[in-house]
Amino acid sequence: MHLPSLSTTAITLLFAANAATTLVEAKVKPLSWDAAYNKAEALVSQMSLEQKVAITTGSGWMKGACVGNTYGTTNPDFPSLCLQDAPLGIRFASNVTSGVSGINAAASFDRKAIRERAEYMGKEFKGKGVHVQLGPAMNFMRDPRGGRGWEAGGEDPFLMGVLAEETVKGIQEQGVIATAKHFLLNEQETNRHKSSSDVDSRTLHEIYLWPFARSVEADVGSIMCAYNLANATYACENDYLMNTVLKGELGFKGFVHSDWGATHSTAKSVNNGLDMTMPGDIDMNNANTGTYFGKNLTDAVEAGEVPEERATDMAMRIVASWYKMKQDKGHPETTLDSFHMEKAPYVNVQSNHKKLVREMGAASNVLLKNVKNTLPIDPKKVKKIAVIGSDSITDPKLFNCADHGCTGYTLAQGWGSGTTYYPYIVDPLAGLTNAFGKKVAVESTADDWDLKKAAEVAKDSDYAFVFSNADSGEEYITVDGNVGDRNNITLWHNGDNLIKAVADANKNTIVVIHAVGPVLMPWINHPNIKAVLWPGLPGQESGNSLADVVTGKVNPSGRLPYTIAKREEDYNAGISQELVIPYEERLLMGYKWFDHAKIEPLFPFGYGLSYTKFDYSKLSVKAKASYDKKDKKTIKDATVKASISIKNAGHVEGAEIVQAYLSFPKSAGSPPQQLRGFEKVFLKKGKKETVKFELTKTELSIWDEGTETWVIPSGKFTINIGASSRDIRKSSSFTL
Ligand SMILES: *[C@@H]1O[C@H](CO)[C@@H](O)[C@H](O)[C@H]1NC(C)=O
Ligand SMILES: *[C@@H]1O[C@H](CO)[C@@H](O)[C@H](O)[C@H]1NC(C)=O
Ligand SMILES: *[C@@H]1O[C@H](CO)[C@@H](O)[C@H](O)[C@H]1NC(C)=O
Ligand SMILES: *[C@@H]1O[C@H](CO)[C@@H](O)[C@H](O)[C@H]1NC(C)=O
Repeated sequence: MHLPSLSTTAITLLFAANAATTLVEAKVKPLSWDAAYNKAEALVSQMSLEQKVAITTGSGWMKGACVGNTYGTTNPDFPSLCLQDAPLGIRFASNVTSGVSGINAAASFDRKAIRERAEYMGKEFKGKGVHVQLGPAMNFMRDPRGGRGWEAGGEDPFLMGVLAEETVKGIQEQGVIATAKHFLLNEQETNRHKSSSDVDSRTLHEIYLWPFARSVEADVGSIMCAYNLANATYACENDYLMNTVLKGELGFKGFVHSDWGATHSTAKSVNNGLDMTMPGDIDMNNANTGTYFGKNLTDAVEAGEVPEERATDMAMRIVASWYKMKQDKGHPETTLDSFHMEKAPYVNVQSNHKKLVREMGAASNVLLKNVKNTLPIDPKKVKKIAVIGSDSITDPKLFNCADHGCTGYTLAQGWGSGTTYYPYIVDPLAGLTNAFGKKVAVESTADDWDLKKAAEVAKDSDYAFVFSNADSGEEYITVDGNVGDRNNITLWHNGDNLIKAVADANKNTIVVIHAVGPVLMPWINHPNIKAVLWPGLPGQESGNSLADVVTGKVNPSGRLPYTIAKREEDYNAGISQELVIPYEERLLMGYKWFDHAKIEPLFPFGYGLSYTKFDYSKLSVKAKASYDKKDKKTIKDATVKASISIKNAGHVEGAEIVQAYLSFPKSAGSPPQQLRGFEKVFLKKGKKETVKFELTKTELSIWDEGTETWVIPSGKFTINIGASSRDIRKSSSFTL
């Protein structure tokens, strides 16, 4: 195979012993936009109109190595760009890592781990010669039934914003352009090509736009516009969203490309802000339908329907993003072959990334219930365990399943384009068997319907582990009648009955759920269910990550990035079957609704147990504001610094996720409280540390619809610090 020529100084050799692995340049420091635009200007100024248009146009679905490929140019030379899924790793490729999903990255509440995940993904995409990674996803779990919620970070904008910022930076520092997606208001799969998500501008800014704003601050190179419409206009031809908000207010300098098949016009799209059409065809399911860009765009410019400066601007945005990530300096040749994977050259980019996946899988596992310290378990004190449920095993079919649209085996990612094929998967049965060792007998059954057999297997084991799952995905695949979105929020495969049968038979039952989002748990108070673990979607190292938590190698610190309700009807949004979807709950998504309506959740946002306990003391809050010289009531800027002392008051070392929620003055009309900071702090037993938060204008502002600006409201604020949204340990008020 061809090895890219790179300067020898900045090279790290991955898998030195293996001739067919790839060379990846060490971290790159992206250029500033100004420097990148200067270089782009020099190149684009030599391009003809046709050439400028060519680099904005995709070559068509399944016509190229990647899921998206642009036309390149010669004289001046600009390469065909490779755009590839997915937010959790490389889709349609072998010898890649299949890591934890976005929802797990969020559940770690761990900035550093989120960054490391992005860095290894960036290395892998670069290693395969991809220019643009199609992630991170940042659509909200407005309702737990939304099919693609698991690809992103859940129900809170601040948490989603951290996921966005750290992921964009981590990917781009490897020299790969990240894509913030899907812009905007793409919260369900049902009717996603024709429904209009209608939301007022305050909600738009305070929730849905938030992670995109953080991405732009992190210098994201590209943004994908969504399938759906907003206020009756397609997202990919929406002047307000792309021009006014994204390129205007946020000052986005990179390029906007369409979701696959989301372009619906030529002049309208281009004039309203679309910079690249993907994968290029008018109808991607119908070859030879032509393209809205290409010759149609050149014609539109020549006819005066699109100003030529606009075509230049489109090209500049694309070329500048490319220079910014230093892809002119030895970016590896593309070695994917997405639609004939078996023909792709052997390029192994996995390095030791499985170690990070294992750690992240454990760090995002949420311990929901743990009666009398049932967990962790010392394998030396155990003679026999039972492992029950189809969710505990794998099957060769799992590896041949198109975009993971299958069920009946352990769940470690959802389905759709946001997936990668597993290079292997350590299933829970293998992970637990290995961790308990040869001296412990393991009896198992994977039949979810034979309850007698399950009870039989569970009966005389020291511990009975029972597994179940709930899946969802993208609408082009239907699994068990679910067209992407979830039909319900109950467990699949007879899960509730299976869990009950096992719990009736064994007084040390441990429930493990792999789910895309919340499920109902009618069995939660069963006296024999001593522990409940929630590993979410942990990727290829699933069983190892689980075993690390079960045996106490890792003390769990994962936290729920969404609210788990007691009843399905406690959620306020739902999946709409209508073509107009007013986001009527406005700011009251997730815990904000539960807080506002005073509904007791089963497990609140931010919740998760530890094997140790933490004491909170000495909260101190200092607020500083500067006021407008003329109008002394108008706050120009403010900073709030809070610090709190956290002590590990238990018997083992572990990490606490310290969460800061802000209540705005009543006059602001905001939800009761909103997450505005979190820190993961690791402490040996008996040790103490001071955790600090700094809230700036971003965290202290609301969107004022009258002036269409961010304003810091004046009045009494309260900062609540605690271990979850419903476990506030210390509060303090300040006035601005
Ligand atoms: C690379 O991928 C191919 C195809 O999936 C597989 O057969 C092979 O074992 C992989 N090689 C390694 C070293 O993982
Ligand atoms: C939709 O219309 C509402 C009401 O006029 C407005 O506040 C909001 O900004 C619009 N949103 C979009 C995406 O156009
Ligand atoms: C131009 O667009 C029209 C639809 O507006 C389409 O039918 C035609 O095939 C396109 N032309 C080319 C050359 O792609
Ligand atoms: C919910 O959906 C799952 C998956 O399709 C199905 O197995 C289950 O039976 C459904 N539950 C109810 C109560 O209909």
